[in-house]
Amino acid sequence: MPDPSTSQKIALHLEEAKSLAQKPFRFYVKKNPRQFFLGIASLLFTNGLDSLPPLLIGFVIDQVTEGEPMSKVFQTLGLLIIISLLISVFRYFWRIQWGQYSYGAAEDLKNKIFSKYLNLGQTFFQTNAVGKLMSLINNDVNSFRMAIGPGVLILLDALFISSFVVPLMIVLSPSLTWKTLIALPLIPIIISRIEKLIHESYKEQQDQFSVLSTSSQEILAGIRTIKSFASEKDYENKFNTESKKYENICNQVARLDAFFAPTMEIGVSIGCAILLFMAGPEVIAGTLSIGALFSFYQYIQKMIWPMTAIGIGVTFWQKGRASMDRILEVLSTENDTPDEGREEAQQFESLELKGLNFDYPGQGSFGLKNIDLTLKPGEVLGILGKTGAGKSTITDLIAGLYPVKKGSLLLNGQPLQNFKQSSLRNLITYVPQESFLFSDSIYNNTLLSSKAKESHVHENLETVQLEKEINNMPDKHKTVLGEKGINISGGQKQRLSLARGLIRQSPVLILDDSFSAIDANTEKNILSELHEKKKNQSLIIISHRLASLNLARRIIVLKDGEIEAVGTHDELLLNSPTYNLVYKNQISPTTEVTL
Ligand SMILES: Nc1ncnc2c1ncn2[C@@H]1O[C@H](COP(=O)(O)OP(=O)(O)OP(=O)(O)O)[C@@H](O)[C@H]1O
Ligand SMILES: [Mg+2]
Repeated sequence: MPDPSTSQKIALHLEEAKSLAQKPFRFYVKKNPRQFFLGIASLLFTNGLDSLPPLLIGFVIDQVTEGEPMSKVFQTLGLLIIISLLISVFRYFWRIQWGQYSYGAAEDLKNKIFSKYLNLGQTFFQTNAVGKLMSLINNDVNSFRMAIGPGVLILLDALFISSFVVPLMIVLSPSLTWKTLIALPLIPIIISRIEKLIHESYKEQQDQFSVLSTSSQEILAGIRTIKSFASEKDYENKFNTESKKYENICNQVARLDAFFAPTMEIGVSIGCAILLFMAGPEVIAGTLSIGALFSFYQYIQKMIWPMTAIGIGVTFWQKGRASMDRILEVLSTENDTPDEGREEAQQFESLELKGLNFDYPGQGSFGLKNIDLTLKPGEVLGILGKTGAGKSTITDLIAGLYPVKKGSLLLNGQPLQNFKQSSLRNLITYVPQESFLFSDSIYNNTLLSSKAKESHVHENLETVQLEKEINNMPDKHKTVLGEKGINISGGQKQRLSLARGLIRQSPVLILDDSFSAIDANTEKNILSELHEKKKNQSLIIISHRLASLNLARRIIVLKDGEIEAVGTHDELLLNSPTYNLVYKNQISPTTEVTL
């Protein structure tokens, strides 16, 4: 039975992803409005209160210089302490709110991207390297978080501080205010010039980071091969070259970043110099008190941060936008094998391929041509063909990994895409040619799907002749496998994958070269167990070894993507040259025959 809650959840995720793609920032504000607006309100209070101490200190200076009673001075100082305490409370509060808001958004975005990955077809993974997909979920999500969290916060902080500080400066001395802040309009001009450069450089930096992740991930995954060919140096050089490119781009981004803060600070320093130059005569003339001059100077100092902050905030924002562009590219990718079927595949009646043609996306050299094939309940169908003939391609299509564009692929007389994918997975189990094991216990690797019955683990490991070997391991079924099952043999991996397929007890089981790493005797035992237990199960067994096809009454012989012949062993000996060659080769291994 399909799991409605999971499919509903996925549909919801995809629906949300659409509105996220349109306005990412607004999307997350709407999702967590309480935290967002409470954060802003607390920030506003913090900034408002924070603009008062310079004024109060100026008062204290004037109170002392003008000989006011000490009780008044203490009153002002007491107020100053209360304000400082309130500032700390509000600052704590906005940090908490804002942290929850931005981390919450990042987590949600990660989940959405991951859900998208899981729901995209094979074609997507064919054109997107794992390293790129990993860096998207880590790096790019983080820089999006920095943009909508600290980035927006810094910009608001700058806005709030300026809108509190500038009016207070005007109250103290309008003429000094405009003279010292005359450099302000230069800031947006400089920013608009540089923001485009930052956006482009940062996108380049993230792209190169993906290349680097892909390269390191591939090298580590293939470390056995690299070592056995003594190619460590070559791969080290390859990695170093990519790493150098990344370093150069990072330097370029750092140079642009570094340009901002000093530019802003220079503006403020010029303002301070103008202040001291202009304020002297006003103090001497008595139009400006010493306390007011002190407050004014403090406010100029306070304006350093907002001016610098605009630069930093805009940089965060640009980086976040570049990352979001990359994320949206994935979120808006259409699945070429969408799960849009409505029918439940309840039981297996027939599987038919009619005039099926297929080319891998973007590859012109290979294609399946005019494949006709039928499978009935209880039948065992063999597919034989030399390496590269197209055997796995046929099974990938039956498993629904690629879309069928020409010809038809029918289950129970209906196109495969009419069925819900979850119900198809229950009906057809596909054991791929490449065994993939997770870094988990043997037990969990065998069970894999929650739909499998736990009580069947031992029974199926017995069927694939693995139970005895596992019992000899110190931790038995709890033995934890290394990455990709590195601590067990190739044949054991293959048999574990086979047990994983058998345990689902689905009406159709496809075994793609599932015996290639297993010795002839063990293979014979497994096949006889399979024969005994299969009952009404239909099997498609793929191999280039005749021994593996013993159970098959009917065998399809593939050659260069086309069916050369179909028939029983005896019929194929009469009408299939490929089958004849394989037969001669495998019955009499000394005969020099090649396919
Ligand atoms: N993901 C892919 N993208 C592009 N071309 C592919 C892809 N997978 C396979 N091919 C090409 O399609 C052809 C058929 O491959 P397929 O894996 O179906 O062969 P096979 O009969 O299963 O071979 P083998 O016995 O070696 O497993 C090959 O020429 C191969 O290069
Ligand atoms: Mg294959």
